Formats: sequence, C-alpha cells, structure tokens
Amino acid sequence: MHGEKSTFALDTTRGTPVLRMRGVLPFEYEILHVERPIFDPLERTLACVIDDRPALFVLDKNIETTYGTRLRQYVTAAGIQAVYTSLSGEESAKTWTQVEAVVGEAIRCELPRHGVVVAIGGGVTLDIAGLAATVYRRGICYVRVPTSLIGLVDAGLGIKHGINYGGYKSILGSFYPPEAVICDRSFLASLAKRHIVSGLAEIVKLGVIRAPDLLELLMCLGRDLVDSRFQRHSEVASAVLMRAEQVLLKELEGNLFESDLQRPLDFGHSFSPAIESASGYAILHGEAVAMDMALTIAIALRRGLCSEQEVQFLFELYERINLPVNQSVCGSADLMGALNAIRRHRGGALNFVVPIQLGRVIFLQDISRPDIEYALAYCDSVAYGRLQPGSGLGRGTHGTCDRF
Ligand SMILES: NC(=O)c1ccc[n+]([C@@H]2O[C@H](COP(=O)([O-])OP(=O)(O)OC[C@H]3O[C@@H](n4cnc5c(N)ncnc54)[C@H](O)[C@@H]3O)[C@@H](O)[C@H]2O)c1
Ligand SMILES: [Zn+2]
Repeated sequence: MHGEKSTFALDTTRGTPVLRMRGVLPFEYEILHVERPIFDPLERTLACVIDDRPALFVLDKNIETTYGTRLRQYVTAAGIQAVYTSLSGEESAKTWTQVEAVVGEAIRCELPRHGVVVAIGGGVTLDIAGLAATVYRRGICYVRVPTSLIGLVDAGLGIKHGINYGGYKSILGSFYPPEAVICDRSFLASLAKRHIVSGLAEIVKLGVIRAPDLLELLMCLGRDLVDSRFQRHSEVASAVLMRAEQVLLKELEGNLFESDLQRPLDFGHSFSPAIESASGYAILHGEAVAMDMALTIAIALRRGLCSEQEVQFLFELYERINLPVNQSVCGSADLMGALNAIRRHRGGALNFVVPIQLGRVIFLQDISRPDIEYALAYCDSVAYGRLQPGSGLGRGTHGTCDRF
C-alpha cells in the first residue's frame, strides 16, 4: 500500500522509556463499471488496471469454462504477461486448501511483489483469491472481477475475505482492500437462476435496512430481473445494481474494519451461518440469508416492532422473487446456539438486527427461545400458505407498479 505514514517517537515521561511507532495506512480503491463486455477487445478497463504488471488470474472453474478463451484472447491482444489458475467456486470448497493452491501457483510462477492477483468469479473465488493476495509476500495488489449477483452487490465491494475452517463459516480471513473492482453485469447471463435469486436476498437485505425504494423496485421488476438474469431492461437492471452498490458502500463507510459491531448489514446474518453449515452448504449463502431474514421479521412481528402490513409486504416480495422462507436443518436449539456463537463473534453483545419499519433497524440484545419457536412456526405457515393455490399473502397492500 502506498502513501504509508508512520512515525517513531521516544517517550521518556513514564519513568521507563517507551518507544512508540505510530502508523496510518491510507487507501483508496475504485469500483469501475464497463460499458462493453469486459473481454471485448475495445473495452480497455481491465488492461488499463493491470497496466504492464505481471498478473496471476484466479478463475472460478465455471468462468474458466465459459469465458476462458475470450479472456486469453483479450490478455494476449493487450500484451499482458499472465498465468492462469482455476478453483472450485462451491461453498464447500471455500477452504484453506484452495488458498494454499493459489499461493502455490503464485510461488511457482514467481509472481513478483509488484505483480497483481486478478480474481474473476463469485463470492467464493473472490474470498479465496483475496486471502491468498493478503498473505502472498505479505500482501500483493489485488483486483476483483465479480461475476455473480452476490459478488456484484456485496462480496466484491468491501475489504473482507473469509474462508470456512474447522466447521466454522468465515472463521479465517482478512481485511485487505482491493486495488480496483471491475463490474460487468453481462456475466450474469450465464449464472444459474438459483444463484440470481440467492443474490436478490442480499439486495432485499439492503432494502430492508436502508432503502425501501429497492424493495418497491424488486416488487415490480424482480421477477423479470430473475427471468432475464438482469439482461433485459438494461437501464432498470443497471439502476438496481448501482443503487444496491451505493447503499452497501454507504453502510460500510466509516466502519470498513467493523470496529463498530452494531452493523445494520448484519441483518440476515445471525442464524444464516448455522443454517448454511448445518445443510452441509447445500443451502446457498443468499438462501440462508433469506431464511434468516424471514425468522427475524417474524420475531419483529411477535415483539410488536414491525407492522403487520410491512411483514405482509415483505413476504409478498419473497413470493414474487421466489426467495425461500423456511428451512428444516435447524431447530430452535440450533438457532439459540447460533445466537450464542454470534454473541461471541460480536464481542459479547448480540446486536441482533431487527427492522422496525422498512428502511430502519434497531439492535436487540435478548432473543428468547419462545421468540425463535414462534418465528419457526410463523415461517412454516408462510411457506405452507405459499404452496396453496391463490393463497398469496398481503395481496393488495402494496405492489402497484405504476410508478416505474
Ligand atoms: N467477503 C465478503 O464481504 C462477502 C460478502 C458476501 C458474501 N460473501 C461470500 O460469497 C459467497 C457467496 O457468493 P456467490 O453467490 O457468488 O457464490 P459462489 O462464488 O459460490 O458462486 C455461485 C456459483 O455460481 C458460479 N458462477 C459464478 N459466476 C458465474 C457466472 N457468471 N456464470 C456461471 N456461473 C457462475 C460459481 O462457480 C458457483 O458455482 C459466500 O461464500 C459468502 O460467504 C463474502
Ligand atoms: Zn451475506
């Protein structure tokens, strides 16, 4: 990182001498948006970011299959000195072994300190490559190219990298800023619809904590965005992504390193790690976030914090965009256990994020077993209602799309 400011001082005022080193590491990274597909020969963004540095490309295996040839043609034409490695983008493979494999490749190809790691893939690839970039030669430049919806609106934008270890979700990792992030919506054209829906859960999260306008947009157009994988109505699709990115970055502002453990962004991320791991990662990250948010919304209702109308609106939105509501891998004891784990993770305080109206949240420190049992039963009944023909919830409460 350039621009380091560190100063040394000798302090003799305390009886014995104290030698003090003080440092500040300013950093800046840009999130860029391409006008044409990123590997189009006329699109210079990636080539300009890499410039004349040697690059290690870390590719999600599915990206390698679909875009590998186009990437190599682009890289050759741009005269970039490149080495390629690919990894499994499955959650169950978000392991130290894959970080080691990337680092091993960097050593094998003698990637120099001024070289750059370029990760192209979903959240799993970005997390693994980011951690590898953090530890290789004590930190090397890192460029992200997110290719999934979660990557574009969440995992690609901050400075965190986490991997799973010892049965714990995201227990190892680093805070390490990328040098640049390059966003290209056209990648979503090849993403499975299940992963698009999973990504929408993170957008719903942003809407509930801070941006009800996003929820209204998704209520009107979410289904079309899923069906077209964000490729139709490009202005709307780009607007939804851009709004989500900005809401996320605004939330991260001032707390990138999470020194304040009261984070609205943790909405949907209290029960979800337990749900994901209990399912053996068969339940996707965004799906677990959707299930967690559903439980939390039900708890808010039980506590009288959220209005019935808003809860109905949210579950109607769930239905529109096909977000999963309930799960069968965690019972109330598991979910209570998850809260204890979260309490340890959040420095002893639960800081359970609950919406009090769309766009506003508060933090609760006490969630009881009856709260959870109520929420589990409530979510089961919502999901059951969804299976009944014509049993949509809260119809007519919101959802007029005339404004858009
Ligand atoms: N570090 C962070 O700040 C942060 C934030 C949010 C989520 N995450 C992590 O991100 C992960 C979830 O991200 P995800 O949903 O991107 O998962 P993912 O990386 O597993 O990608 C989902 C699947 O889609 C495939 N894929 C990705 N892009 C594709 C494309 N354009 N075309 C075809 N297939 C494609 C992948 O191979 C994978 O099978 C979780 O591990 C979560 O913990 C991290
Ligand atoms: Zn998440």
